[in-house]
Parts: sequence; structure tokens; C-alpha cells
Amino acid sequence: MKILHGPFTQILPLTGLPLKGALKDYQLQIIPDGGIMVENGLILAVGDFETLRKQNLSAQINETKGDSVLLPGFIDCHTHICFAGSRAKDYAMRIQGKTYLEIAKAGGGIWDSVNQTRAADEALLTELLLKRIERHLAEGVTTIEVKSGYGLSVEQELKQLRAIKAASTQTKASLVATCLAAHMVPKDFNGSQSEYLKHVLTDLLPIIKKEDLANRVDIFIEESAFNAENATIYLTKAKQMGFDITVHADQFTTSGSKVAVNVGAVSADHLEASRDEEIKLLGNSNTVAVTLPGASLGLGMPYAPARKLLDAGACLAIASDWNPGSAPMGDLLMQAAVMSAAEKLSAAEVFAGLTYRAAKALNLTDRGILAAGMRADLQVYPTNDYKEILYHQGKLRSQIVR
Ligand code: NIG
Ligand code: FE
Repeated sequence: MKILHGPFTQILPLTGLPLKGALKDYQLQIIPDGGIMVENGLILAVGDFETLRKQNLSAQINETKGDSVLLPGFIDCHTHICFAGSRAKDYAMRIQGKTYLEIAKAGGGIWDSVNQTRAADEALLTELLLKRIERHLAEGVTTIEVKSGYGLSVEQELKQLRAIKAASTQTKASLVATCLAAHMVPKDFNGSQSEYLKHVLTDLLPIIKKEDLANRVDIFIEESAFNAENATIYLTKAKQMGFDITVHADQFTTSGSKVAVNVGAVSADHLEASRDEEIKLLGNSNTVAVTLPGASLGLGMPYAPARKLLDAGACLAIASDWNPGSAPMGDLLMQAAVMSAAEKLSAAEVFAGLTYRAAKALNLTDRGILAAGMRADLQVYPTNDYKEILYHQGKLRSQIVR
């Protein structure tokens, strides 16, 4: 059944824009009084509403009333929302000025979430995950990447990835799973960093392949997690097995982004500590630079140098990093809007970073713009001007169009 949605005061299809580099708002195509024809979840045509109506007299019409700005659904290309429990204790210590190390020593940090997540069964994890997915959908996010990384043993990582797979069959959101078994060396593993990575390569990744639980592999490169040398060996082998690679890079110290570019990762995420050298490297690469303002807000730390990355030619995406430790807020639009004020990003750069550039970070070619043949992931804002969306810093909310 063909459905014609509209008329929308403005449609921003995000088409015709470059994949990399800075963008100005005048480059945004805006279709006034627009319509969009959809069939079986795919876009058939985007254009002037009246013209489309006359050309398709048999189509069912889903009429829009009042002011409306239509955008592609947002794509959150980096989250850790498959977890159980809370780390409010960490946050309380952090705002009292305690350091990362002091918090970890007091029983906080990633390992605390590992213990809490291990204690939950797959059904509970699925239920908790679905609640977070529904919140994201209500906030305009239609595609969500979800990492494991709070299991850190073969059995527990599989439990997380199976919960993600189960959730994906019970929601309208589209989920993309990533294996982050290399989040840290688990405290109960009897061996070195490189032995743990070898164990993941031999005993976990083949099962993930066989059960089709994820086609992406992530690693946290940091002094408290994995070093560049071990990470390079691990990622090279994972890539040979057919996995797409993504990296937690340059969050507190540099070296991760260099590894990401060298191994041909689809994205390097975080980048708060990236300096001119790393910015230049990313700008000249095909690795998407993913900024995570939610982690900066959660940790009370500076943002990644988003402006400089764009000016250096990078493909910049913005994701929430929603997780129980460093980024508990999980409000993607609010975080992107707040960062855009600090980093001086144009609306075009922000919307690109939340749509087609985020799709690139996930290697997805069927979404992120509104054009014929693309998925009909649509959200509509109750306003007559797209500029109102960032201006309200996340308080103007969209609805998913179905
Ligand atoms: O992306 N940096 C590493 N991992 C997460 C934090 C996870 C946690 O603290 O639980 C991040 O910020
Ligand atoms: Fe993260």
C-alpha cells in the first residue's frame, strides 16, 4: 500500500551533501510544502506534496496538520545500553572530585557494571534494553548501535549479544550489535592483556560469526585498558575474520586514532584528547570521527575538537555513548545541540552527524538521507523552521512518522 505523508512545512532530505568536511546551512536542501511517498517501509519519492498527490491518486494520504519539519530518523552509532544496574555511586564520587582511579579502587568503574550485568539473566537484560530503546525512539532515534562489553567472558558476552538480538525482534528501532569484549582485561582472567585478546579471537569471535550475533568489533585503547600494539594485532585478525572495526580512541590519551586509521577502522570514537596530529590524520582518512558529547557532559571534561576535525576534512558523526558510567543521560539531540553551541557547529553539520555521516560509521548505505530507495525512517518536528530544533537544545521533540 502506497502512503503519501504530508504536507510538511519543510522537508530536509540531507541529500547532495559531501560525506566529509565542514558544511554551511545554505548547503541544506529544503523542500517547502513537501510530501514523501512510502511503500513497505521504503521511500518511493520525495518532493512537492501537491505534485506527488496528483501523480498518485490511488495512494493513501497521511495528512500532516500544522507546522512540521521532516528529517531522517537519527542514527546513534555508539551506545552501551545493554547493561543492568546503576553507577550513581560513581557519579556522586566524581562530582566530589574523586579521580577515575579512586572511583575504580572504591569498587566503581566498568568492572562494577560487569558484575551487575553478569548477575542479570538474558530476559532481564532484553527487557532493560528495550526500555532504553523505546526512550530513544521517542526522542527521534530510529537506528541504534549497541555494544556488548559488560560480560567479558565468552558466556557473558554471548548473553549480552543474544539479548541485543532478542530485543531487535521486539522493537521498531533498527539495532546494530558490536562486540566489545575488549573493553578491559577482566579482573577474573588469569593471564596477560595479549592472552585475553587471543582468547577472545579463538573462543568468542567464531561463535559470534556462526550465530550471526554481530559483524563489528570494538576495543578500548587506553592506559587502563589495551595498548596500541596489542590492539593492532587483535583488530587486524578480527578484520581478517570479516568484522568491521571500530575503536574507542583518544579518550584520555592518544594512540587509539592512529591504530584506527592504520587498520582501516570504519570509525574512531571519543577523540577528546586528539591533538593537531591526530586531527590531521583523521581528516585525511576514510575513518569516521565519532564525537560523544554525552561522555564529556557525564565526566565533566572537554568536548572532542569537533570544529577542528570538520575543518581538517573529517567525516564527523555525533553519538550518545549512552552507558551507565561515563554517559548516563542518553539524550542524543540534547547532547548534540549543547555541543554545537560550544564547538560552533552549523545545523547542517549537526544533522549530517546524526544521520548520513552516522550511517557511514555503521557502514549502512540504506538510510540517513530521504531519497527514493532508502528506508522510510522518518521523524517530524512541530515547528515551521528547522532552526528551531537546535535552538531549543533538545526540548523540541519529534514524533516518528509511520
Ligand atoms: O565509552 N571508554 C570506555 N567505555 C565507556 C565507558 C563505560 C563505562 O564507564 O561503563 C565509554 O565512555
Ligand atoms: Fe563508549
